[in-house]
Amino acid sequence: MIISVVSGKGGVGKTFTSINLATIFAKDLGEKVLVVDTNFTSPTVATHFGVVPDSHTIDEALAKGTYNPTDLIWIHPAGFHFVTPSFNLVALDDQALNTIFEMLRPLFQNYDVVILDGPAGIGRDVYFTIANSDMSLIIANPNYPSLYNALKTAHFAKALGKMVPGAVLNMYRKGLVSPQEASEILELPLLAVIPEDPTVKEALQHGQPLVEYKPDAPAARGLYELAEALTGKEIRRKRGGSGGFADILRKIKDFLLS
Ligand SMILES: Nc1ncnc2c1ncn2[C@@H]1O[C@H](COP(=O)(O)OP(=O)(O)OP(=O)(O)O)[C@@H](O)[C@H]1O
Ligand SMILES: [Mg+2]
Repeated sequence: MIISVVSGKGGVGKTFTSINLATIFAKDLGEKVLVVDTNFTSPTVATHFGVVPDSHTIDEALAKGTYNPTDLIWIHPAGFHFVTPSFNLVALDDQALNTIFEMLRPLFQNYDVVILDGPAGIGRDVYFTIANSDMSLIIANPNYPSLYNALKTAHFAKALGKMVPGAVLNMYRKGLVSPQEASEILELPLLAVIPEDPTVKEALQHGQPLVEYKPDAPAARGLYELAEALTGKEIRRKRGGSGGFADILRKIKDFLLS
């Protein structure tokens, strides 16, 4: 399954969602996962782990016209693989974008899940990202500029014949556009509502996926909700976190609030 993570607007949480979903799929579900940073001209995946990629990059492969997978693939301690451009690529034309995906596609077959962490906007890079996926996951924030750009992106993906199972409302807090209104604007079910959570930036500061850094943080729980909605499975966490007593308290709280 190849999932493109797209949004229209920038800075809404595509990379955050991609990296954490990859961690859940790899660590909790034991799947082989590849994340591809398709922000070819402004990559972010590697920098989320404090890495500035200046070798073993997509642009090296593009320049050579070939690559050895072991030279291109980076292995994240959370158990997933990723490939990244360097910071040297500037505007790419259709031919270069096409060549990149032609080169990467054979690699995709070695994985259970491939996550294409898409760029902002709806330019040619986004077109190629969506076109090379089976399914698009739409990320939006609870404000109108983000929601209408996300709607446009969802229409674009559907017009390309891609599955669009739903959207993620990220950085939600009370007083902003409600989940119900967001879902109506997007013409999509919400697979998860992820709250605005200061722990997200703390995890970034530590160079760790949030679900590794603090699996019980409010935003991490939203990410698990998303992974469960996408897979239809109940996911048992295979890592630390408070667990035990705190977990029981959480279940009681969920029960009382439901
Ligand atoms: N739920 C959240 N709560 C608080 N901060 C968040 C949340 N989700 C994401 N962020 C922060 O918002 C910023 C943007 O997130 P991210 O880089 O994932 O967005 P993006 O959509 O990938 O951006 P771009 O379009 O530039 O690729 C990051 O600093 C991230 O840590
Ligand atoms: Mg990003």
